[in-house]
Amino acid sequence: MKTEIIYFSATGTTKAIVTAISNGLNGKVHFTDITLPDKRKDVLTVDSDLVIIAIPVYGERIPHFLFDYIKQLQGNGTLLAAVSVYGNMGFGISLEQFKNFAEMNKFRLIAAGAFIGQHTYASNEAPVAYGRPDVQDMQQAELFAESIQKKIDMGNFACPEIPKCMLPGFITELPDSGTRFLVRQPRIYRTSCNSCGACVQKCPVGAIDPETLKISENKCLRCYACVKVCPKAARTARLRLPFFRTIFYHAGMKRKENQIFL
Ligand SMILES: Cc1cc2nc3c(=O)[nH]c(=O)nc-3n(C[C@H](O)[C@H](O)[C@H](O)COP(=O)(O)O)c2cc1C
Ligand code: SF4
Ligand code: SF4
Repeated sequence: MKTEIIYFSATGTTKAIVTAISNGLNGKVHFTDITLPDKRKDVLTVDSDLVIIAIPVYGERIPHFLFDYIKQLQGNGTLLAAVSVYGNMGFGISLEQFKNFAEMNKFRLIAAGAFIGQHTYASNEAPVAYGRPDVQDMQQAELFAESIQKKIDMGNFACPEIPKCMLPGFITELPDSGTRFLVRQPRIYRTSCNSCGACVQKCPVGAIDPETLKISENKCLRCYACVKVCPKAARTARLRLPFFRTIFYHAGMKRKENQIFL
């Protein structure tokens, strides 16, 4: 069996989950990493028996810019497994979106998983999903793959039941830019910066000017890949509103478990 794993991962948690998933699969596995903007210039095509698409949840859904890119992918009865990785708050409508995508683009959705990854905005004062995926998460991701494999081996291609998201529509319909009201773009401390350019290379939307290192307010997703990659800790992150910090702290601190749907 040939499997194609297509994933986006700004800060590495989705990548960790798909790596664990690949360990539970038989046959050939090929990865297509669509995190960097250059990668998303290529047209996506299907040349495998099973496609696994894995994304981080932004604003309780698949980030719009990613979904627009993924939507070009057409199956022809190809099997699909959907993976949402989220920061312990909620995976919202993301798996429902995958289900609709499968119906529209002629895929057969046979499995879906919602896995936890450390929240982008986790900090010492609000360590939301800190250190996740952990060993247990990685084992569950591998088991998820084994269950998919078993389902295929048994010739069972039934679509799983995906739970309905109970959040009001206006939350899940906010544009990608909605996060700007809650989270500031990373700040740069020029005195610490050594101009290595790592942040420029790592930005998934090319929002950092390579000469000035300034961030485009309109392009920036607040994914904080640049903050995490900086070897000099010259970029820092800040949540904008105190009330958001409080909600974030309280809603995010109770450990959620991964969920799989087969
Ligand atoms: C703009 C933005 C919005 C996010 N929205 C949510 C959300 O609605 N629910 C949630 O649980 N986590 C949310 N997160 C956290 C990420 O889904 C989580 O940290 C994920 O593990 C990041 O994946 P990556 O490391 O592969 O980039 C958000 C992160 C960002 C950057
Ligand atoms: S500039 Fe914005 S979009 Fe680019 S890596 Fe930094 S936080 Fe992410
Ligand atoms: S990664 Fe850090 S040190 Fe390197 S250019 Fe960016 S801000 Fe400066």
